[in-house]
Amino acid sequence: MSEQRIGGTTGRAQIPNRTTHITGWGHEVPAAALTNADLEKIVETSDEWITTRTGIRERRIASKGETTASMGALAAARALAVAGINADQVDLIVVATLTPDHLMPSTAVLIKGALGSTRAAAFDLSAACSGFAYAYAVAHGFITAGLGQRALVIGAETLSRSVDWSDRSTCVLFGDGAGAIVLEALDLEEGQEGTTRPGTLSFELSADPSGAYALWIPGGVGEGADPLIKMDGAKTYVYATRTMAAVATAAIERAGLTPAQVDLVIPHQANIRIIEHVSKAISYPMEKIFVNLDKYGNTSAASIPIALSEAVAAGRLKPGDVFCTVAFGGGYTSGAFVTRWGADPAHGARAANVDPARIRVVRPEGGAKADQPPAVLRAFLDARHR
Ligand code: ACO
Repeated sequence: MSEQRIGGTTGRAQIPNRTTHITGWGHEVPAAALTNADLEKIVETSDEWITTRTGIRERRIASKGETTASMGALAAARALAVAGINADQVDLIVVATLTPDHLMPSTAVLIKGALGSTRAAAFDLSAACSGFAYAYAVAHGFITAGLGQRALVIGAETLSRSVDWSDRSTCVLFGDGAGAIVLEALDLEEGQEGTTRPGTLSFELSADPSGAYALWIPGGVGEGADPLIKMDGAKTYVYATRTMAAVATAAIERAGLTPAQVDLVIPHQANIRIIEHVSKAISYPMEKIFVNLDKYGNTSAASIPIALSEAVAAGRLKPGDVFCTVAFGGGYTSGAFVTRWGADPAHGARAANVDPARIRVVRPEGGAKADQPPAVLRAFLDARHR
């Protein structure tokens, strides 16, 4: 009988002078775009209201069979291709999501299966829209502690299945998608210290229970099956504007830098007005802030890795550049990290070598409710796919 090592990693003590760097990146968004004009047919709203209050023009909606795991797996496969490694060279898979396919098994385990990985440890992490910063920090800690060399850090969401499509104050905001990076150990050479060193430079993570029920999904053990997002938009707006600027500033300071030394800020893509507020609060020009929320809306934990992947493709990051990501979300939570980019952006072209047909997530016998779009969107999705 062949012996297969399942999961499991072996640890050593903290590795001195080790940091991490991003070597692979990729994303996946559903093909179907739901525009503000489409939304006008679902709830009492207008393109003008949505555009001026949020900056969002359209969002992508998962079709039947597309799930958090399937989109996360495809984004991860692209990140592996870009990094030039195979799934068995990964020691850890962390998926940040608030819309897992199931409570159990984790989405990370489903993605591991789809990638054909036989050895990575895998788990999900729940920190809402700040999830990618939290997951990046966990993977960085795992690698610098010597528990492994490489991690897949994934943010993936199917928010269209967790939105109340009769609530105009929330349903216009959210969209579906996934983004992923490969984070690898980087052993610093002598003299590569201080603010000019390569790789991951700093983190700032926070959690504020005062917002627990201002942005929440009741469904959970003992709570019945209510899977729909509830939000106090005004309170969340105030929290977002206050915390994003503070957390970004703290992470930049901890890296020993000033905002002027940061080449690109990649914020959580929730609302253009929140991003403009951060720009003013930290005196950082909008031209150096990456924005794609007009195309995708708020994809929660997926928003930063999708934006990162698009920023590299758009030539916004080159080796030596420093970027800062900053997010806020349910919890409330917030998180930021600062990294010096080191990879060759041209490697991004390797993502095209991934054949989506070969990345299959195993589904339960008879299918699963998680595979189905909400009834109100089915006619729209059918029309788009005709
Ligand atoms: N279309 C038309 N009118 C609307 C809509 C809509 N889609 N939604 C709300 N309105 C109405 C309201 O009913 C209200 O009407 P009223 O004055 O007659 O009562 C009016 O518009 C103004 O509503 P406000 O809530 O004051 O609008 P505001 O300018 O605050 O914008 C928004 C609302 C966009 C939700 C804002 O509060 C916001 O961005 N908050 C942060 C939300 C956020 O980013 N959440 C994601 C968190 S991340 C995570 O972890 C999931």
